Amino acid sequence: MRRLVRASVPDRDRLAAIDRSAGPHSWPETALSRALERQQVLTIEIDDDIVGFLVENRVLDETTLLHLAVGAEHQGRGHAGWALKAWLADLARSGQCRCLLEVRAGNQVAVRLYERLGFEDIGRRKGYYSSPEGAEDARVMAKRLTDIP
Ligand SMILES: CC(C)(COP(=O)(O)OP(=O)(O)OC[C@H]1O[C@@H](n2cnc3c(N)ncnc32)[C@H](O)[C@@H]1OP(=O)(O)O)[C@@H](O)C(=O)NCCC(=O)NCCS
Repeated sequence: MRRLVRASVPDRDRLAAIDRSAGPHSWPETALSRALERQQVLTIEIDDDIVGFLVENRVLDETTLLHLAVGAEHQGRGHAGWALKAWLADLARSGQCRCLLEVRAGNQVAVRLYERLGFEDIGRRKGYYSSPEGAEDARVMAKRLTDIP
């Protein structure tokens, strides 16, 4: 059974390993620790096995998706899609009005996933991300939560 579970500080090393396996842009462990201390991390679990996680930041009635990662060996099986759908429904139920996120413009898998879930572009930050290959734009996307049943 798939479920979303609020993570805690002892989960850090496991989540950091998942993040490193997920792709080339993993979070620094200090940032992950801070998010865990602030209770901003939800793990995606299948039968108690953690396959991925997301990091959220709630401010008043808006929530930002700060990070999302699914371990390399679990990708392409619908876990991120399922987790985001469940998370967005939870946010809507708890009265959140809008969900925001930033994504590398070249991250086609993530952009397609967000678009499929109803996120729309609301802005673009030129050269926002730096990487060895050069600067990359951020797409700023948002989804209204007030029409989720
Ligand atoms: C983005 C990410 C979270 C998606 O997780 P996931 O569990 O594999 O996603 P899903 O299985 O729900 O798939 C989402 C879509 O992407 C497609 N997809 C997933 N992995 C893919 C891959 N390696 N190549 C091509 N398409 C892929 C799926 O087929 C699906 O598309 P569809 O609905 O049209 O079939 C995961 O690839 C990841 O952790 N990437 C590294 C970190 C990252 O980029 N995070 C997001 C930005 S913050």
